[in-house]
Amino acid sequence: MQKTLLIFLGILAVGWTASLGATGDEPLVCQFEDELWGGEDIRKFYFCINGQVIEDTCDTDYYFVNNSTFSGCLPSNLMNPQCVNLDAVEPDCEGLASQQPQPSASLNKFYLCTNEGAKELSCEQGKAFVNQDGYLGCFAWTQWRMLRHCTDDP
Ligand SMILES: *[C@@H]1O[C@H](CO)[C@@H](O)[C@H](O)[C@H]1NC(C)=O
Ligand SMILES: *[C@@H]1O[C@H](CO)[C@@H](O)[C@H](O)[C@H]1NC(C)=O
Repeated sequence: MQKTLLIFLGILAVGWTASLGATGDEPLVCQFEDELWGGEDIRKFYFCINGQVIEDTCDTDYYFVNNSTFSGCLPSNLMNPQCVNLDAVEPDCEGLASQQPQPSASLNKFYLCTNEGAKELSCEQGKAFVNQDGYLGCFAWTQWRMLRHCTDDP
């Protein structure tokens, strides 16, 4: 395996240990009684029943949006393109793709080229993949949103 991949996997391993025990930013109090609200993880949303917060996740390839025209899960092709990986495909493992992890259509996953071809791997819990502006790797959803310029506000 190439050296860069080993280094990248090393970083992943460190990130994994660091995130153990910290499960993220799930809200514990009802922010709204009769509305859905989103989390930092763009796939998730929350609502309240009898004062209790319920967490739910949009279906595969659907993402949560709340703005003046829509509140709920939208399919990726209707999303802000900065928030989704519309044209991510399994890499051919030639050129740059053979040396760097590549985005997957699943935001929290990425492809890594190995001797046996491309493998799709998951970021550790609470993180999603970024390859943008010199940032490469798995980042916490809050950072992911910042780096991807993906916010609910237009
Ligand atoms: C959803 O978006 C609308 C329009 O921007 C806003 O008025 C409302 O407060 C938002 N709801 C939540 C739960 O954030
Ligand atoms: C609401 O969000 C959807 C998805 O990002 C977008 O297509 C739509 O234009 C947004 N509406 C407003 C008023 O920003």
